Amino acid sequence: MKDDNKSTLSVHAGQQRDSNIGVVNPIEPAVAFHYIDSGNQYYPRYFNTPNQQYIVEKIAALEHAPTGMLFSSGLAAISTTMRALAKPGDHVVMMENLYGGSLSFAAKEFSELGIAYDLAGSTVEEIMESTRPETTVILVETPANPLMQIIDLQALATAAKAKGILTVVDNTFASPINQNPADFGIDLVIHSGTKYLGGHSDLQFGTVTGSHELVERIRQKGICYGGNLDAMSCYLIERSIKTLDVRVSRQNENAMEIAKFLDKHDSIAKVYYAGLPTHPGFEIAQSQMRGFGGMLAFDLAAQHSATHFLRHLKLISPAMSLGGIETTVTLPVHSSHGLVPPAERQRLGIGEQLVRLSTGIENIEDILSDIEQALRTSVEKPAALQTS
Ligand SMILES: Cc1ncc(COP(=O)(O)O)c(C=O)c1O
Repeated sequence: MKDDNKSTLSVHAGQQRDSNIGVVNPIEPAVAFHYIDSGNQYYPRYFNTPNQQYIVEKIAALEHAPTGMLFSSGLAAISTTMRALAKPGDHVVMMENLYGGSLSFAAKEFSELGIAYDLAGSTVEEIMESTRPETTVILVETPANPLMQIIDLQALATAAKAKGILTVVDNTFASPINQNPADFGIDLVIHSGTKYLGGHSDLQFGTVTGSHELVERIRQKGICYGGNLDAMSCYLIERSIKTLDVRVSRQNENAMEIAKFLDKHDSIAKVYYAGLPTHPGFEIAQSQMRGFGGMLAFDLAAQHSATHFLRHLKLISPAMSLGGIETTVTLPVHSSHGLVPPAERQRLGIGEQLVRLSTGIENIEDILSDIEQALRTSVEKPAALQTS
C-alpha cells in the first residue's frame, strides 16, 4: 500500500508561504470582508473564509481528496452530508453499528423527511442486500465501534458504484494517518475531528472530503443549516493537526502493545483489535490500513467486575469520547449502547464485561501497569454502579 509522507502533510499542507506572515497562518476573525475589488464573498456560514480553507487544504491532502468542508461537529458533517445526498422518496443504507448519534439522526429525522432507511450488518454482502432501486447513499464506519469490525472498502465501493449508489465512510476511528477510503473508490470521507484530528480532548469539529461536485452539494445544504466554525477554533484545529502523524503513530504502537498484552492475560476473555491475526477483519485491515489505530475493546473474564475495573484505574481515565493523547476507557453498555435494549446488545455482542479503550501517547509501561493493577483489584464484584 502507498505510504505517503503524512507527517510532512500534517505540518505543511494548507500553510501559506508568504514572507509577511511567518510560518504560521494568521487568524482572520472577520465575518465581513471587502468584496468590491477582490470579488471574494467570504462569510463563515458559506464555509469559505481563509481560516476554514487552510484546514480544508490540510485535511483534503491528508485524505487524498480534491476538496472538503469543515463543520462545528462530527454530527453536523454527517447530518448535512446525508441530507445533501438523500431527498424525500430516497432510500439510505447504514451499518447497524454506526456511531449512536448517526443512528439517532436517521431515526429522528429521516422519517419526518420521508427518507426510508435500513440498517445492515457489517459485511459488504449484508449492506448490498439491503439496497433498493431508490437507494442513493450508503454510510459505514471501519473500524466500527465498539468491536472494531472491518469493512472491505474496495469491495463496497465497487458494488455500490455498479448500482449508482454513493458511499460515505466515517473514518474517525482510523484517522487519515491509517486509512484513506478515497484510495479505494469511496466517494466521501467524514471525520468527527473532535477525536483524532483535534487529539487533545478540547475541540469539537467535523470534516467531509470528496469531489468538488459532491462537496458543493453539501456546502449548499450547509449554507441552509449552518454548522460552521469561527476563525479562533480553526486556528486551534490547524495547530492540532500539525502533530496528527506523530500522535497517531504513537497511538498505533501503544494500542498494538496493549492488545498483545491483553490477549495473553488470564483476566481477559477476548480482545477486539484489527491488528491481531485472530480478529476476523485482520486480513482486510492489513490490506487497507497503514496502521491498525488506537481503538480496541476487550471482554473481562467473568470473575471481574467491569465497573470495579474502571474505578481502580489510576492513570487511565474512564471518560466518554476518544482519540485524545490520554488513554481513556468506557463501558459501551453505559455509554454508546446505553439506550440499546439488552437483548439487542446481546445480539450485537456487546455485553456487561466489554471495555472500550482509546489509547493515548503515554509511556506504554505506565499504561500496562495501570491496567495490570486494576485487573488485580477488580476481581470482586461491587454493588451495581448508578448509571444515571
Ligand atoms: C465514529 C464517530 N462519528 C461521529 C461522531 C460524532 O462526532 P461529534 O461528537 O464531534 O459530533 C462520533 C462521536 O463520538 C464518533 O465516535
